[in-house]
Amino acid sequence: MALPTRVTLWEAGPRDGLQNEPGVVSTEVKVELIDRLVDCGVTHIEATSFVSPKWVPQMGDHEAVMAQMKRRPGVTYQVLTPNMKGYEGARAAGAEAIGVFAAASESFSKKNINCSIEESIERFRPVVEAAKRDGVKVRGFVSVVVGCPFEGDIAPEQTAKVTKQLYDLGCDDIGLGDTIGVGTPAKVKRMIEACAKLVPLEKLGGHFHDTYGQALANTLAALECGLARHDASVAGLGGCPYAPGATGNVATEDVVYMLDGMEIETGIDLKKLVQTAWWISDRLGRPPASRVARALKSKCL
Ligand code: HMG
Ligand code: MG
Repeated sequence: MALPTRVTLWEAGPRDGLQNEPGVVSTEVKVELIDRLVDCGVTHIEATSFVSPKWVPQMGDHEAVMAQMKRRPGVTYQVLTPNMKGYEGARAAGAEAIGVFAAASESFSKKNINCSIEESIERFRPVVEAAKRDGVKVRGFVSVVVGCPFEGDIAPEQTAKVTKQLYDLGCDDIGLGDTIGVGTPAKVKRMIEACAKLVPLEKLGGHFHDTYGQALANTLAALECGLARHDASVAGLGGCPYAPGATGNVATEDVVYMLDGMEIETGIDLKKLVQTAWWISDRLGRPPASRVARALKSKCL
């Protein structure tokens, strides 16, 4: 399989990143982070999520974020919507791209969205139908695609089954989430191959958390399978509050550095991105998790 010549990076920092901060980050900082990332050349960004503030208080200011962020033409600002209530809130706030999120294991589905996998698919059905009617783009996510914090290893066929269910609902693309970062390249490839038997490869994207330091290797493995869409989080921010011990996504700077070196285009300015990684990390009071951001600090700041 030839490597893609261009990769679309979905920036997950403002959502997947900040949803897992122990303290609540101010709306002002969130909005400035989104604007700065777009200035770096990011064209696809997860802005916030319309989930219950009782479940994820860190995203409770979703309306204010949507009202205050700049909306640059040509940039996709996506928000998570687990149900119709979330969808209605997102639309009222002007969202034009949404994400629904399922899991490959029953235990994780229950912990994260308080329902079984089948129930979640039925909840998403009216959401995706409404989105199609309204001309809203829809991403689907499958969590715990190779391993679950409660059930251990997940069979590739199980992940492929849920991926197909999201595809059949009408999701425009599906992010394959290694939520707890336990995947290794060979496992990730087997999982993608199983999914690609049921869903066109161009509909699939990678979403790798870096808990075990495997996320960049897993991103490369997914690239080698032909996936040209990858989620990443500036400074490696984040994790899922309902996945014990999970750390952030692969750092966007690390992915951009790797892709630049492979002459694969992303349209993202690495120097500005490193500056943004340090800017948000300074606000959070710790250095970026990204090795590239740390290595390039003196050259970029
Ligand atoms: P529930 O308690 O079963 O919901 O939660 P419910 O329908 O029974 O409603 C209970 C209350 O929540 C009601 O309010 C509803 O109005 C309210 P009350 O009457 O008690 O005052 N409610 C809402 N409020 C705001 N927005 C909504 C909403 N829906 C109901 N959309 C629910 C079910 C799905 C809402 C809850 O479980 C939830 O919000 N879960 C979100 C968990 C989450 O955000 N996890 C992190 C994102 S997923 C992730 O990070 C993984 C990913 O990155 C991929 C990967 O890494 O694998 C995407
Ligand atoms: Mg995630």
